[in-house]
This record gives sequence, C-alpha cells and structure tokens, in this order.
Amino acid sequence: MSRPVFQEAVDLIATVAEVTVWPEETPPPYDRLRAEAREADGLFCLLTDRIDESLLDDAPRLRVVSNMAVGYDNVDVNAASRRGIYVGNTPGVLTETTAEFAFALMLAFARRIPQGDRMVREGRWKTWGPMTLLGSDLRHATLGIVGLGRIGQIVAAMARGFEMRVVYCSRTRKPEIETRLGIEYAPTLEALLAQADYVSLHVPLNPETRRLIGEAQFGVMRPNAVLINTARGEVVDQQALVAALESGRLGGAALDVADPEPMAPNDPLLKLDNVLVTPHIASASRATRLKMATMAAQNVVDVLEGRRPTHCVNPEAGGGR
Ligand code: NAP
Ligand code: GLV
Repeated sequence: MSRPVFQEAVDLIATVAEVTVWPEETPPPYDRLRAEAREADGLFCLLTDRIDESLLDDAPRLRVVSNMAVGYDNVDVNAASRRGIYVGNTPGVLTETTAEFAFALMLAFARRIPQGDRMVREGRWKTWGPMTLLGSDLRHATLGIVGLGRIGQIVAAMARGFEMRVVYCSRTRKPEIETRLGIEYAPTLEALLAQADYVSLHVPLNPETRRLIGEAQFGVMRPNAVLINTARGEVVDQQALVAALESGRLGGAALDVADPEPMAPNDPLLKLDNVLVTPHIASASRATRLKMATMAAQNVVDVLEGRRPTHCVNPEAGGGR
C-alpha cells in the first residue's frame, strides 16, 4: 500500500496477505515504489503513483494494481493487461461527493466566497456595503457539462435544482437523460462553449481528452465564462488558461486539479484574483474516502483469492497471472 489509509482497508487486505504500508504523507519515490512492487503480489496505489510498463516489467509476481480513485490515467492499463495483471478502481462511491464539490466551486466562485472570507480575516469588513463583492446568480445562467458520465449527470441534476439551463456534450448522446433531467445536447464541444456561462469538466484523462481545452477553445468561450475543473489538470492547457485569464478573455477558473500537481506556490494562476484553487479534494468526505479505500482493498482481495476484481478496468487481462 503506497500510503497510509483507513485501518479498515489495511485489515481487509491483511485477511489474505502480508501488508506493507509506505508510512509517509508524500508518495514513495518512483524507484522505491518499483523496488517494493518487485516483491509484491498486489499493489494498492493512489493517483499520485506512476505505474508504468517499466515498473510492471520489474514486478514478476504482481497480479493486481488497485488504484484508490475512479480515474486510472496514472496506470499503463494496456501494459498491465499484456502481463495478465488486473487493474481495479473505485467508480460510483465518490460520484455525489465529487459532484457536490464541483457545485461548491461554482457557487464559491459566483458568490465570491473566498474573497469575502479573506476580507473579514484581513480586517477589511468596515460596514454592510451595497456595492461590496458583487457576484453573479447561478439561477438562469447556462452550465455546460463536458462528459455526461456518473459525475456529470449528478452535477446536471443539481444545476437543474438551481434553475440553471444545462447543456452537455459527451462521447455519446443520451436522449433518455436529456428528457429526464431537462437538459440540452450540444453536438460539438465548440457549440457548448459558445453558449455556457460556466463550463464544468467531467471527462476522464485519456489521449482524446488531454488538452481538450486549449487556446482555440478559450477563443470560442463566452466573455466572462468560468471554467470549473474537477476532472484532471491535463485536460486543460494550463498555459493557454493563464493567457485567457490574463487577457481578460475569460471570467475566471475554479480548479480542484492542476498540471502539474501539486501546483507550485509561484504558479501564475495564483497571482490572479479570479482563480480559485483547491488541492484535489473533490472526493474528500470522510465517508467517501473510507468507501474508496475499502473498495480498492476489496479489489486486491478479490484477485489474491483468485477472482477478477469487483471493479475492474481491464477484464481483458483474462485469467491473470
Ligand atoms: P465516467 O462515468 O466514466 O464519465 C466520464 C464521461 O466522459 C463519460 O460519460 C464519457 O463518455 C465521457 N467522455 C469520455 N471521453 C470523452 C471525450 N473524448 N469527449 C467527450 N466525452 C468523453 O467517469 P466519472 O466517474 O464521472 O469520473 C470522471 C472523471 O472525474 C474521472 O475519470 C476522474 O479523472 C475525475 N475525478 C476527479 C475527482 C477529484 O477528486 N477531483 C474525483 C472523482 C473523479 P460517454 O458519453 O460515452 O458516456
Ligand atoms: C480522483 O481524482 C479520482 O479519480 O478518484
């Protein structure tokens, strides 16, 4: 296990295996992780661990890589499949928690909550001000959702509760969900960007979505539109984002993810008042993180007991090693 997590998860794996836990708060250096994996039958890892072909090549006993995350872009899944190594993830249990956080970012941005908090703490709250920290209403604003999967759908439902107009684009059109939630389909990303006041990203990171939002896309967004990213930092061209914000082309950005992570304290984004950044915590409710940890642990147990992981991203790994 590449980081200390809930004891429940450790205990679950300990029912079938001897467990070694990397004890630090920061990830094991790549070489250390690789050395540990060399001896392991299973690996319980996090999105901060790079599980590449070279590490897998050097791990002759490894039968399962279980990522405590729904996203698994840190794992070379094809390389794992070729070696009969199952890859597990944690879909579903973090959906609502992550959607709530995307919504929290949108509300915090629209109503200038971070600025209000800073004003009070810094002793700048002098009186009730009729012109103080004027924000925007979400009601009747248009939200564009990119990627209408598990999380995107819950964000859409929340937005409808706030009486927002919701437009989405995704790999596949979903007419039944359009009707059920009262949302509209945009046939292209550009068509969505041209009409949204808020754009919320919910795609996984893969070769098609890497830098999906770059200079050209910022160019077609509405002036003053706000980008919300709880997906992955690499889905956005961050240099182009800085340029769009600095030029005033964009209204702002609220980001739970960055490229790279952690964001450097001197990152140009942090010099801008219309940028809100959180440290990749969208799924971080206690209850949800416990579910993620035990689900990832169960994926390890499944394989070590001879079954496919309950939540498996590469069933093609076949009978495993
Ligand atoms: P999901 O259910 O798989 O939904 C992803 C959606 O994106 C699917 O609907 C999918 O297509 C769509 N999609 C995939 N490739 C696309 C493309 N090239 N263009 C347009 N749409 C595309 O996944 P999820 O559970 O909602 O999670 C989404 C992502 O959120 C994760 O992969 C992870 O990276 C991120 N995440 C971040 C946090 C955090 O802490 N910040 C927490 C949880 C998840 P279809 O239209 O075919 O369905
Ligand atoms: C978090 O980012 C996840 O993919 O679960």
